[in-house]
Amino acid sequence: MLAAAYHGFGLRVVEKMYQLLRQGRSALDAVEAGIAEVERDPSERSVGLNGFPNWLNEVELDAGIMDGDTLRACGVAAVKRVRNPIILARRCLENLPHVLIAGDSATKLAEASGLEVVEDSKAPPEALEARRNLEKRLREGSAELLQYYSKLFKTASMTWHDTAGAIAVDIRGSVAAGTSTSGIAFKFPGRVSDSAVVGAGFYADSRYGAAVSTGVGEVAMRVAAAFKAVFLLSKGYKPREAAELVIDSAAEIAAFDGEAYSLGIVVASKDDVGAAALNWRNFKYFYLLDSEITKGEVVYVET
Ligand code: GLY
Repeated sequence: MLAAAYHGFGLRVVEKMYQLLRQGRSALDAVEAGIAEVERDPSERSVGLNGFPNWLNEVELDAGIMDGDTLRACGVAAVKRVRNPIILARRCLENLPHVLIAGDSATKLAEASGLEVVEDSKAPPEALEARRNLEKRLREGSAELLQYYSKLFKTASMTWHDTAGAIAVDIRGSVAAGTSTSGIAFKFPGRVSDSAVVGAGFYADSRYGAAVSTGVGEVAMRVAAAFKAVFLLSKGYKPREAAELVIDSAAEIAAFDGEAYSLGIVVASKDDVGAAALNWRNFKYFYLLDSEITKGEVVYVET
């Protein structure tokens, strides 16, 4: 059995997954339940319906999950009003042949699946204050809105785009991975992050292991971060080595663009875990192995 999850709330996620895994529940169940717990937390500003909104003040969520036994996966993107996008992604994985469902259709799928769908997708009141501050900074820097979008990752603080991401290996050796986020705060409406995209934010293959990433989703997508990590596992690299190589690729993208992008990735084989992070000194993760929950070591890279 193994479970891993990043960020401060990763500890809670790992504990929740452990509870289920030791009862003999599947890796998919553990990943879904661990992430759903963060999505339901009303104090979370970067995951779930209490996350910060897009520029039009609507909360749009992304999530995805993958079954490493079958290589089936589904992401749900720019979803409004759905309490638990990770549960929606799991329903999609089990009931539809598709790998990505977006926008209003995803909300309709949630309604049809009997999942909790709230009345409106307006942001929590705290978001208004944060947005006012951001607008002030834009004014002070005499930046325009379109420039803001192109400079979003410099302007917005890191705390505005954390993701819940989880990996589990169950007692049968099945592997699963999943992610969920409200995305970068005040993003361009309809912008989709790596958390909905299989191979970018999440990937699992029960023969080798799994990976989940967090940070600037555009970078994770451009380097196919999670798939690349699992591919490297399949070629014999250890999780820590695979994580470091993915972060090296992300550093190349940062150099091409001349930006100090941040990206974190956690990679797990069935009996080992490793992680690396780009421009993210306080990136952390937790993992469970041999019934013990530990804070993992991270290879930090700066550009
Ligand atoms: N990884 C989350 C995001 O890019 O918004």
